[in-house]
Amino acid sequence: MRKVIITGVSGMLGKEVKDVFKSDYEIYGIDVKEIDDYSIEFIKLDITKKDEIYDLIPKINPDYFIHLAAYTDVDRAEIEMEKCFLVNAIGTRNVSIACQRFDTPLLYISTDYVFDGKKGSPYLEYDNPNPINSYGMSKYWGEIFVRDLLQKFWIVRSSWLFGEGGKNFVDTILKLSKRQPLLRIVDDQIGSPTYTKDLAFAIRKIIEEAGFGIYHITNSGYCSWYEFANEVLKMKKKKLEVVPIKSDELHREAKRPEDSRLENFMWKLSGFKPLRDWKEALKEYLEGK
Ligand SMILES: NC(=O)c1ccc[n+]([C@@H]2O[C@H](COP(=O)([O-])OP(=O)(O)OC[C@H]3O[C@@H](n4cnc5c(N)ncnc54)[C@H](OP(=O)(O)O)[C@@H]3O)[C@@H](O)[C@H]2O)c1
Repeated sequence: MRKVIITGVSGMLGKEVKDVFKSDYEIYGIDVKEIDDYSIEFIKLDITKKDEIYDLIPKINPDYFIHLAAYTDVDRAEIEMEKCFLVNAIGTRNVSIACQRFDTPLLYISTDYVFDGKKGSPYLEYDNPNPINSYGMSKYWGEIFVRDLLQKFWIVRSSWLFGEGGKNFVDTILKLSKRQPLLRIVDDQIGSPTYTKDLAFAIRKIIEEAGFGIYHITNSGYCSWYEFANEVLKMKKKKLEVVPIKSDELHREAKRPEDSRLENFMWKLSGFKPLRDWKEALKEYLEGK
C-alpha cells in the first residue's frame, strides 16, 4: 500500500484530506494536538523542530508528503508575527529540506492571501504575489522555500475554507444567528468559498494525476462575505437582518485583499472539470446542521 504523511491532520482541512486518502493509503498523520482516529498512525510532532521531521521520513519512507499544518489565525498573526513565521515559513522549510533529502514529492497548501487583491480580475497561478498581511507573507515565504528547495512539488492555493471540525465563517454565522438579531458583515471583499471536502478530492487528484507546479483550487463562483452570510441564512431559512459594512469599520488587526478570486487555470489546463459551484457545496455542508 502507498504511504502518505499528512501534517495538520487534526485541522479542518486535515480531517477531510485524511478521509479522502484513507481507503487506499497508509496514513501517517502529524499534528501538535492529539486525534482520536485509530485507523491512522498518529505522530505528535512540531514542524518547527527540524530534526524531528528529518528523522521521521526515513522511518516511514512515504510516497507523498502533504503539508497542511499552519498558524492560521490571520489577525493574531499581526501581533505574534514571529510565531506565525516560525510555523508557516520555517516549519515549511524544515519539511522541504527533509523531502529534498529523501526525494519525497511534497504538496504544500497555500492561500489567496499571498495576493494583494488589487488585480481586478481572478488571479492566475503565475501572477506575482504581494501579500498585505503577516499571515499571507509567512505562507508566501513557505511557497518560496518549497520552490527553492524542491523539484518535485505541488503548491495548491485555496481560499475561504469551510468544512467539518474547524473554525469557519459558516459556523460562525450560524452561531451568531442564534444570539443576535442583526449581523454586520463586510461587502467590500470578494473571493471564492471552498468546501474542504471538494478541496481534499482535488488534492488527491493532483497528487495522482497532475504534473508538478502551482494550482489554484476553489469551488466555482464567487461572492462577498455579505453575500456568503446571506446565502447561509437563506439556506437555513433564518430570518435575520444582515447589514453590509465596509472593512475599515471592523478595525481588525490584519488587512485583507479586496478581490482575491483565484482562477483555477492550471487545473482546467490539466483537463479536469471545474469544482462545483460554492452554493451547491454549501448546501451539502449545511444538510444536517
Ligand atoms: N482556512 C482557510 O480559509 C484557508 C484558506 C487557504 C489556505 N488555507 C491553508 O490550509 C491549511 C489548513 O487550514 P485549516 O483551516 O484546516 O487550518 P487549521 O484547522 O488551523 O489546521 C492547522 C493544523 O495545524 C496544526 N499546527 C499548527 N502549528 C503546528 C506545528 N508547529 N506543528 C504541527 N502542527 C501544527 C494546528 O494545531 P493547533 O490548532 O493546535 O494550532 C491545526 O491542527 C493551512 O495551511 C492554511 O494556511 C486555509
